Amino acid sequence: MRIQVGIIGAGPAGLLLSHVLNLEGIGSVVLEARSRDYVESRIRAGVLEQGTVDLLTQSGLGARMAQIGLLHRGIELRFRGERHRIDFPSLTEGKSVMVYAQHEVVKDLIAARLAAGGDLRFEAKVDGLDGIDTAAPSIRYTQHGAAKILDCQVVVACDGFHGIGRTAIPSERLRVYERVYPFGWLGILAEAPPSSDELIYARHDEGFALFSMRSPTVSRLYLQCPADVDLGDWPDARIWDELERRAEIPGGWPLARGPVLQKGVTPVRSFVAEPMQHGRLFLAGDAAHIVPPTGAKGLNLAAADVRTLSRALVRWFRTGNEDLLEAYSATALRRVWQAERFSWWMTSLLHRFDETGPFGQRIQLAELDYVTSSQAAMRTLAENYVGLPFAD
Ligand code: FAD
Ligand code: DHB
Repeated sequence: MRIQVGIIGAGPAGLLLSHVLNLEGIGSVVLEARSRDYVESRIRAGVLEQGTVDLLTQSGLGARMAQIGLLHRGIELRFRGERHRIDFPSLTEGKSVMVYAQHEVVKDLIAARLAAGGDLRFEAKVDGLDGIDTAAPSIRYTQHGAAKILDCQVVVACDGFHGIGRTAIPSERLRVYERVYPFGWLGILAEAPPSSDELIYARHDEGFALFSMRSPTVSRLYLQCPADVDLGDWPDARIWDELERRAEIPGGWPLARGPVLQKGVTPVRSFVAEPMQHGRLFLAGDAAHIVPPTGAKGLNLAAADVRTLSRALVRWFRTGNEDLLEAYSATALRRVWQAERFSWWMTSLLHRFDETGPFGQRIQLAELDYVTSSQAAMRTLAENYVGLPFAD
């Protein structure tokens, strides 16, 4: 039987798409290479834009988020030993963000799909696509050692940056824009109460540091590090010392320490593949674009892609009208490039760039002085951070 939408990947993009389509009566199958346990415990993003929170809430996924999510009305920028707060509601007509872990969103989505009888196939690795230029595309995959085929009307690749979906678009049709930064983020999850009520983005001559959280007892902390960092060189005590140093203020500050539960390195990269569709294949989320994590935009962009694509698919399946579907790539890319620009700017503002030298450092500090003193500049940061309005 030919199903309506074949979805590759059970990350936030694939699961949310399957969920939203189901609410509109459209059938889908999700194929995921990893186990359910693996995707439900993969530690990643933490900040949800107001629009993402609204989308999740409106589609019936708000209950646990309302219980254990942390509403944040501002962030702190820390540099040169100074602390400056950016207040979101007063700068954005009342908007704010929610700190709610990505794997909790994934758990909520899997629970909702399974409760609705959804077809999620874990440990089902996609090997290739056929017929994406035709009205009868299919997905080849392997599950528990058996080769299988899923026939569908539309394929959506939500399989992340290293997925297979994007590679099915002929290379002469695909244009890629990319910048790889010479540094990464060393991230830890620690059993330690957050040292501040709000996130701290710290710029220091030695490099960037970010202080985030997951709950009143668990902190999520990041340090700029060399791209080829060896984690063996970073015992826990060194990480804590460096975090404290990069956010130092006169008189010191209390950085609560505790057992490190998880440690990892994230590359920092900007990447966009255009177009985000070819024939009956559509790309959504990290499969099409990556942003440096500084702006907290990756998960939010994935949700925005899904919002645009699901509306287009609903219209097409209901009426046969292809207009929104044909416009999907152009519509999604306008928002993608806004998020790329903001994430690039936040990265440039806060990280150490060896190649720009002392001149670059002075320019950064001058820009930070401006950003924290001009209402116009603060508003620009705040309205991008909480999420620009959707075009429709
Ligand atoms: P993914 O989550 O990567 O999901 C893709 C899925 O496809 C995976 O489950 C994968 O196993 C599966 N897959 C891949 N290949 C195949 C195949 N061949 N067959 C079947 N399945 C396949 N974003 C924010 O918005 N805010 C933040 O604060 C933030 N912080 C971050 C911090 C870190 C440390 C990292 C790493 C990322 C952060 N991001 C953040 C980015 C965010 O996590 C990603 O943008 C988000 O996961 C994208 O979701 P996705 O569904 O598109 O892709
Ligand atoms: C988190 C990650 C980010 O990339 C960011 O900008 C803010 C917070 C986090 O994991 O909590």
